[in-house]
Amino acid sequence: MILVTGGAGYIGSHCVLALLEKGYEVVVFDNLSTGHIETINKLSSIGQNKLHFVKGNLLNPNEINNAFCSKIDAVIHFAALSQVGESVANPDRYYRNNVIGTLNLLDIMRRNNVNKIVFSSTAATYGEPKYVPIDETHPQKPINPYGKTKLAIEGIMEDYDRAYNVKSVRLRYFNVAGADSKTRIGEWHDPETHLIPKILKSTFQGGEPFKIYGTDYDTKDGTCVRDYVNVEDLVQAHILALEYLLKGGNTDFFNLGTKEGCTVKEVFELCKEITGQKISVNNINRREGDPTQLVADNSKAKEILKWTPEKTLRDSIKTAYEWEKCLDKTIKEANR
Ligand code: UFG
Repeated sequence: MILVTGGAGYIGSHCVLALLEKGYEVVVFDNLSTGHIETINKLSSIGQNKLHFVKGNLLNPNEINNAFCSKIDAVIHFAALSQVGESVANPDRYYRNNVIGTLNLLDIMRRNNVNKIVFSSTAATYGEPKYVPIDETHPQKPINPYGKTKLAIEGIMEDYDRAYNVKSVRLRYFNVAGADSKTRIGEWHDPETHLIPKILKSTFQGGEPFKIYGTDYDTKDGTCVRDYVNVEDLVQAHILALEYLLKGGNTDFFNLGTKEGCTVKEVFELCKEITGQKISVNNINRREGDPTQLVADNSKAKEILKWTPEKTLRDSIKTAYEWEKCLDKTIKEANR
């Protein structure tokens, strides 16, 4: 049995789906603060009796303990607050929820003799890059509280291995995009802050015009460069990391990205082409805390985990668009 914290959220739910499709039995632990019960219901209808849901909060050790009723072989830990801007405004919530929540989880794991964990870390732990593509030896100097919480947890995991033999794989995501290719689940944040869903939402009736945050960066067209990795590819890396730990692998950490950088304007043009819509766009000031470019060197994950991202940015935008149409319809129907 695999315990997935944050399994009702965007990346967590795609990972649960991939685990179920591989025949794993899964317990999802989620407080539904940003995840959705509709996502759990959809996963339950797919997983049938292989999916168990425990509603609870990482700040409540008794609730975490409830998720360990059955024998857990390993944990995949997604549950976290993850908005950079919000973390600058409310660092207290971020340190408490992300760092203390993870400490609680690690301690309950130890109490239950579970010593394997795959952890969602982030490219935000690197801060403003000194060089690109960024490899895993690049210095980690996060520039916002969100990245700092994830880096603190990475350090805790190193120490828990040394002292208590808890083995971890920390996966540093770059920009995750796309949805389930069968449109069963997808990205569902409220409010939405991410680039691709924001562009796509602006094509719907009542959608806000799309805004580009900064056109004066030192890049080929003046907009920020990011490395967009498809969510289905990304979750395959989690399964490989899980299986690596189950086979006795040592604590390690990997970048998950494609090694391809794309500018905001390039993403916007591709969205226009795929949707076939005219999208109105406003160029506004830079958003605070956005690094100029983030592109992953993914050679280590390729070599050790044997992970190869297969899907293109075009694939991600197509599946994200199918999902957004579905979500837009559901939300409009619910508000009627
Ligand atoms: N952007 C716009 N307009 C928008 C939204 C985004 O121009 O309406 C731009 C941003 O300025 C940035 C790029 O699009 O240059 C991507 O922005 P996202 O908000 O989609 O993603 P981020 O790169 O800010 O952040 C993502 C994750 C974080 C993680 C980070 C790691 O959301 O959790 O990658 O690099 F920390």
